[in-house]
Amino acid sequence: MSTRLLTLQVNGRKRETAAPAGAQLLEVLRDQLGLTGTKQGCDGGECGACTVLVDGQPRLACITLAASVEGRAIETIEGQSQGGALSPLQRAFHEHLGAQCGYCTPGMIMAAQALLRSDPHPSEERIREALSGNLCRCTGYVKIIESVRAAAGDPA
Ligand code: FES
Ligand code: FES
Repeated sequence: MSTRLLTLQVNGRKRETAAPAGAQLLEVLRDQLGLTGTKQGCDGGECGACTVLVDGQPRLACITLAASVEGRAIETIEGQSQGGALSPLQRAFHEHLGAQCGYCTPGMIMAAQALLRSDPHPSEERIREALSGNLCRCTGYVKIIESVRAAAGDPA
């Protein structure tokens, strides 16, 4: 299989890697760049586990060609904490038990991050809508919604 050189901007850093031509963003992040916080669930655009942000918008990395996002700002869960400190959303998921097995959590947090940037105090309905593409196999949706509300400063 042929490879090509990719230059990606990930979490504010320029990253260069050789990846198979036609590689999906998810495999480049995980296999080439070692950013395994982004999870592979269905690998078919159905579960949201692989959600990252591209130019601030949620994108499913499993169905996004890595070459198509060269030059765009890519954010993954690894970029959430700063200087070892959890982000407000990460802290809220921890304190409000939004993570159970934790597999869906990175995708949930990235989708919620995009929402809170555009609407810092979203209604519960808006939170549910923003996370509607993210499946939790532990089905702990109540705690996840509470976590996002808490991060938004709503005492839930
Ligand atoms: S792994 Fe991408 S949507 Fe499920
Ligand atoms: S916390 Fe287990 S899949 Fe959501």
